[in-house]
Amino acid sequence: MRMLITGGAGFIGANFVHQAVREHPDVRVTVLDALTYAGDRSSLAPVADAITFVEGSVADAALVDRLVGESDAVVHFAAESHNDNSLNDPSPFVETNLVGTYTLLEAVRKHGVRYHHISTDEVYGDLALDDPAKFTPETPYNPSSPYSSTKAGSDLLVRAWVRSFGVQATISNCSNNYGPYQHIEKFIPRQITNLIDGVRPKLYGAGLNVRDWIHVEDHNSAVWAILDRGRIGETYLIGADGETNNLQVVQTLLEVFGRDADDFDHVNDRPGHDMRYAIDASRLRDELGWSPGFTDFRTGLEATVDWYRGHEAWWRPAKAAVEAKYAQTGQ
Ligand code: NAD
Ligand code: DAU
Repeated sequence: MRMLITGGAGFIGANFVHQAVREHPDVRVTVLDALTYAGDRSSLAPVADAITFVEGSVADAALVDRLVGESDAVVHFAAESHNDNSLNDPSPFVETNLVGTYTLLEAVRKHGVRYHHISTDEVYGDLALDDPAKFTPETPYNPSSPYSSTKAGSDLLVRAWVRSFGVQATISNCSNNYGPYQHIEKFIPRQITNLIDGVRPKLYGAGLNVRDWIHVEDHNSAVWAILDRGRIGETYLIGADGETNNLQVVQTLLEVFGRDADDFDHVNDRPGHDMRYAIDASRLRDELGWSPGFTDFRTGLEATVDWYRGHEAWWRPAKAAVEAKYAQTGQ
């Protein structure tokens, strides 16, 4: 099996490539990644000898056509992924998330290659704090940000290419991931690296927004289950019942670092900030027999803290620039 993995130098993609090399020795991996600010080749250093790495964009039609033509399956992680960045400049989000996905779809259509599309629960918009509902595959799309709207658009392209052209595709919409190799612009690694530096964590607004946290290894094991046993044309929601508000996350981290529970700052809120995400993953659990390995959030968080403590050389070069950017918006 020859597998093309886009965005393999990013957070989830790199963890997926590691899992592929570790647990699926029959798979020959090629990574296509543009090495944007979010891509880091050193995240693939432990598996560098076992894979082929190609630097380039998913929106480069000639390159994508060649690589897809040499593959049996494509798993598409590459994206502009950060909501805050999409509020400052939406244009790369349109190019990578929409044009890039279109480019891949045209290539898998031409070459008859199996395609799995990695997407997000944010396509469904948000839920109220007092609403017992969770997102299901039937929840109407209602994205809030430039990021989530381009992801929603990319999902709709996939659905149309399945129905109109018979492309052999599946889609997964996952909730918030945490774990090793996550860029420090994101909430959890930003606060961990702040705490390592003796800086107070930064909470947007009141900090009551809820995210449904899942360990990246569990997201990726679900993707393998879909690749193995998923129904073509189907959408699978991935989540591990990890609803936690941002304040609780910060206070757990403060406890892990032995700091006082009120040792954090409230900073400017995100415009249009989604209130709550929650996933009903019963299709994945019932049809494909998937279940998460990380069931205790605190244990997963402690392991993640240890990883950032042990890999300062990986994140340190980006820290000052990330904080300078947040300072511009008072965050
Ligand atoms: P990330 O920002 O850490 O990594 C994105 C990767 O894509 C980087 O390596 C970057 O260099 C690469 N890339 C960007 N533009 C490219 C282009 N034009 N061509 C080729 N490569 C390009 O993102 P992530 O958090 O690992 O997210 C991966 C995927 O998972 C995305 O599709 C995202 O929407 C989805 N997702 C993320 C989460 C989460 O919590 N992080 C949750 C659900 C779904
Ligand atoms: O739900 C899946 C999505 O999760 C993915 O599609 C996105 O790619 C991924 O970035 C993530 O989006 P969020 O916007 O939820 O993640 P982020 O880490 O940016 O923020 C998580 C929450 O923490 C959110 O409510 C905003 C808040 N936050 C964030 C930062 C960076 C803070 O309170 N302080 C911060 O410093």
